[in-house]
Amino acid sequence: MGVELAYTDAVARATEGLYAKVANFIPKAEWIAYAPVIAEINRLKREKGAVILAHNYMTPEIFHCVGDFMGDSLALAREAARTDAKIIVQAGVHFMAETSKILSPQKTVLIPSMEAGCSLASSITGADVRLLKQKYPGLPVVTYVNTSADVKAESDICCTSGNAVRVVEAIARDFGTDTVIMIPDKYLARNVAAKTGVKVITWEGACEVHERFTAQEIRDYRAAHPGIVVLAHPECPPEVVAEADFAGSTAAMINYVGSHKPRRVVMITECSMSDNVAVENPDVEFVRPCNLCPHMKRITLDGILHSLQTMTHEVIVDPVIAARAKTPIDRMLAVKV
Ligand code: 13P
Ligand code: SF4
Repeated sequence: MGVELAYTDAVARATEGLYAKVANFIPKAEWIAYAPVIAEINRLKREKGAVILAHNYMTPEIFHCVGDFMGDSLALAREAARTDAKIIVQAGVHFMAETSKILSPQKTVLIPSMEAGCSLASSITGADVRLLKQKYPGLPVVTYVNTSADVKAESDICCTSGNAVRVVEAIARDFGTDTVIMIPDKYLARNVAAKTGVKVITWEGACEVHERFTAQEIRDYRAAHPGIVVLAHPECPPEVVAEADFAGSTAAMINYVGSHKPRRVVMITECSMSDNVAVENPDVEFVRPCNLCPHMKRITLDGILHSLQTMTHEVIVDPVIAARAKTPIDRMLAVKV
């Protein structure tokens, strides 16, 4: 790592406010290892004019201690377009970093691990989309942001789980159609079809984290914890969403907890969410399923520090593809949610 980082008095003082936030989730012995890295990351950010965009699935020491802007994919995309910072470090997966680069080609976008992929993004290529368009000519292509720039470049509009319903309604209206191609998440597509009445032609993609949840698991949570409120991500299979009290993006689930303050809640989504939300909601009891996203978990504090020290790994998108991919992202960002 170059500089020897130690838990000095100065580090302890500089990070005590941050530790107060996460003390319930991070034992002191672990904090002593994290704190010098956190202090150095925060110093380097100021020195280099960098911001860290942290997804809601980051672990608490990243989310609460080095993230400058935290949110779901939609909020992170909006922030990437808005920030004045010259350098963006994406504490999230590769498709999120690509989206930031597409929206801000003049900025340096870094990702701490090039291996932070996504089972949805790797399920489909631009060539697959071209074949779909040949098979269903004239139908609009709605593409989940969890895809590569190549796939976005072939699309009419992008969506995230936070705006998918509004996006599908808007594009179906613009194209005067009752059917859209919605790729690559078959579950998100079916969940959106059920909410909008718009028919979807979809793809055999799924999130490897959310597809593992079952309806029986939800019934078991309700039986074991009477009165529990169940929140599910729309990447879950439709029978899981049907058993939930509310389905929405990671940000929508966080807002639900903040505004409804349920006594007890279970978030049917990636593991770290509950830890991050619990920090802000100490009176809510969280029952925690632990389905980890192995891709998100490739982003670590040490990785972020290395990224800032060495300015790696820079995310590059072919400018021609990036320009084509920007149109459907901009179209999505113009849809009111
Ligand atoms: P959100 O847009 O809800 O943050 O979801 C992104 C994601 O990768 C969920 O698995
Ligand atoms: Fe992709 Fe699922 Fe991981 Fe989100 S949780 S990044 S959709 S594999």
